[in-house]
Amino acid sequence: MMTRQTPQHIAIIMDGNGRWAQRQGVSRSFGHKQGVDTLETILNAVAERGIPYLTVYAFSTENWQRPKSEVDYIMQLLAEALCQYADRFVREGVRLRAIGDLDQLPPQVAQQLRDAMEQTRVGKRITLTIALSYSAYTEVSYAIRQIVDDVQSGRCSEADLLRQDLINDYLYTRDMPMPDLLIRTGGEQRLSNFLLLQMAYTELYFTDILWPDFDETALDKALEDYASRQRRFGKIDEDA
Ligand code: IPE
Ligand code: IPE
Ligand code: MG
Repeated sequence: MMTRQTPQHIAIIMDGNGRWAQRQGVSRSFGHKQGVDTLETILNAVAERGIPYLTVYAFSTENWQRPKSEVDYIMQLLAEALCQYADRFVREGVRLRAIGDLDQLPPQVAQQLRDAMEQTRVGKRITLTIALSYSAYTEVSYAIRQIVDDVQSGRCSEADLLRQDLINDYLYTRDMPMPDLLIRTGGEQRLSNFLLLQMAYTELYFTDILWPDFDETALDKALEDYASRQRRFGKIDEDA
C-alpha cells in the first residue's frame, strides 16, 4: 500500500467568524466565541491524525485597527480560553506556544500566555502555536534587529551573513519545521501577512467554509487534497 502523504505541520488562517455571526443576525463577538470551540475540535482532530504541529492565526498586527469593543472582546475571550484549557493541555500533552509581538497584548493576557507556555513546555503530542499580534513584516523587522545586534557583538560572523537561510534562525518559528499545508477558511485567497517566509514552499488550500463551520470532515477534505499534491521544491521528478 502506498503511504498517504500527510503534513507534519498545518497552518490555518481562521477567517470568517464575523460573517458567520452576521449571517445569523448576532454580533460578531458570538462568531469569535464559536471560533474558539472550532479550534478545540480541530486541535483534537489534528492530534488524532498524528500531525505534530498546528499553527493558527488568531489575531494580526493589523487587527488592532478594529473597533475597540471587538478587540477588547477578543482579548477577554483569549484570557478565558487560557484559564479553561491550560490544565487540559498539560494532561493531554499539548505544548502551547504563542508567536507575535506579545508585548502589545494586555499585560494580564501576556502573562497568562507565558505561564501556559511554561506549564505545557514538555507536551509531546502536539505543538499548538497561536499567532497573536502577529505579522510577517513585524517578525522580519524584529529578526533584522537581532541580526544587527549579533553582528555587532560578534555572535554572528560575516560568513553567517552569507547563508541564505540565516534569517530562519531569527524567526519566531526557528525551532519548528516549515508548514507543509496552509488552510484558509472564509473564502479569501490571500495570506494577510501570515508566515510569509515560512510558507515559501507550503501547499495552499482555500475553502469558502467560515471558520465556525469548519469541522473534521472539512479538515479531511483538505488533507485529501494535500495528499494528491506533488511537491517539487523547484526540482523535476526524474522518474516521470
Ligand atoms: C477571523 O475572523 C478572526 C480574526 C481576524 C480575529 P474575522 O473576524 O476576520 O471574520 P470576517 O472575515 O469578518 O468574517
Ligand atoms: C486574517 O484575517 C487574520 C486572522 C485570521 C487572525 P483578516 O480578516 O484580518 O484578514 P483580511 O483583512 O481579510 O485580509
Ligand atoms: Mg476576516
